[in-house]
Amino acid sequence: MRPVIPLIAGIVLGILGKNGNGASVSIPDESIKEICAGDTICEDIKLEANTSQIIEVILRQQQSNTFLQCSIRPNEEPKCAPDSSVSFKYKRETQILQFCMKFNQTKHSENKMVVKRNEEIYLTILLLSCKDDFKASAVHNKTHVTVTCEHDAFKFSNSGIEIERESNIVAQCVWSRQCIGAEEVASGIQFITEYDPKIKYSCAMDGQSVQINYTEEEIHIPHQGIPNSDQGTGRPNLLSCLYMCIIGFLSRLFI
Ligand SMILES: *[C@@H]1O[C@H](CO)[C@@H](O)[C@H](O)[C@H]1NC(C)=O
Ligand SMILES: *[C@@H]1O[C@H](CO)[C@@H](O)[C@H](O)[C@H]1NC(C)=O
Ligand SMILES: *[C@@H]1O[C@H](CO)[C@@H](O)[C@H](O)[C@H]1NC(C)=O
Ligand SMILES: *[C@@H]1O[C@H](CO)[C@@H](O)[C@H](O)[C@H]1NC(C)=O
Repeated sequence: MRPVIPLIAGIVLGILGKNGNGASVSIPDESIKEICAGDTICEDIKLEANTSQIIEVILRQQQSNTFLQCSIRPNEEPKCAPDSSVSFKYKRETQILQFCMKFNQTKHSENKMVVKRNEEIYLTILLLSCKDDFKASAVHNKTHVTVTCEHDAFKFSNSGIEIERESNIVAQCVWSRQCIGAEEVASGIQFITEYDPKIKYSCAMDGQSVQINYTEEEIHIPHQGIPNSDQGTGRPNLLSCLYMCIIGFLSRLFI
């Protein structure tokens, strides 16, 4: 631990607190980034002649987690105290300070990153959960469907994981083991409802969402020769193909 950290933390908290009631602060549009574990986020900050300070924090409710703080004096290189996950570069010609942060789920998963130049908010980035880290399924047996949503970062989420039906939340679980309308599973949520192929479900967490496709439950029938059209087991064999063709042909005759 560097001895400067507590000092900086004190300064930052003071500054953030002061800014809370500053009605004149203009908040630029948020940009949105999808962040997966191990990703690096890089941003450029333009320093102006009067820039004396740069602060970068990740906000989580009332708390903030500072990962870079720089003080700037005219005609000097910025003096920065970065967190171990941050690196920075300053280009004197362009007066651009670039910082790169390697995303660490444990430290950074709170979902908003704010950069302040002097006391003004310069940049706000909404960090969305990683789409690829969702494990989602909707397995039906023609009458019921089991919808399951899991995400690797579930335990870091404040608002938890949700199952949505056409953009409305129908079930939600937070990591502290509270669920509404659903059961918890290892790192997410599960619920069972009546199957309706017209209804589309999606999984959502911290502003990110993925659609879930239906799959039919595999039915294990001990007999041979009964067609099994389930995916994943390879090509249908000739026998089942023949069977399907005959059924298809016959059904057309009778309709
Ligand atoms: C810093 O300078 C810019 C223009 O270069 C000006 O718009 C801004 O208000 C100044 N900020 C302060 C705190 O003086
Ligand atoms: C992420 O941060 C935690 C807590 O500070 C630390 O223990 C862990 O080693 C970090 N992980 C990586 C991959 O840097
Ligand atoms: C379908 O799944 C539901 C919920 O798991 C179950 O109650 C029901 O008996 C199943 N129906 C059939 C036909 O297997
Ligand atoms: C769901 O189905 C759509 C259309 O068939 C496909 O493009 C998409 O990749 C599927 N999603 C998943 C998660 O499998």
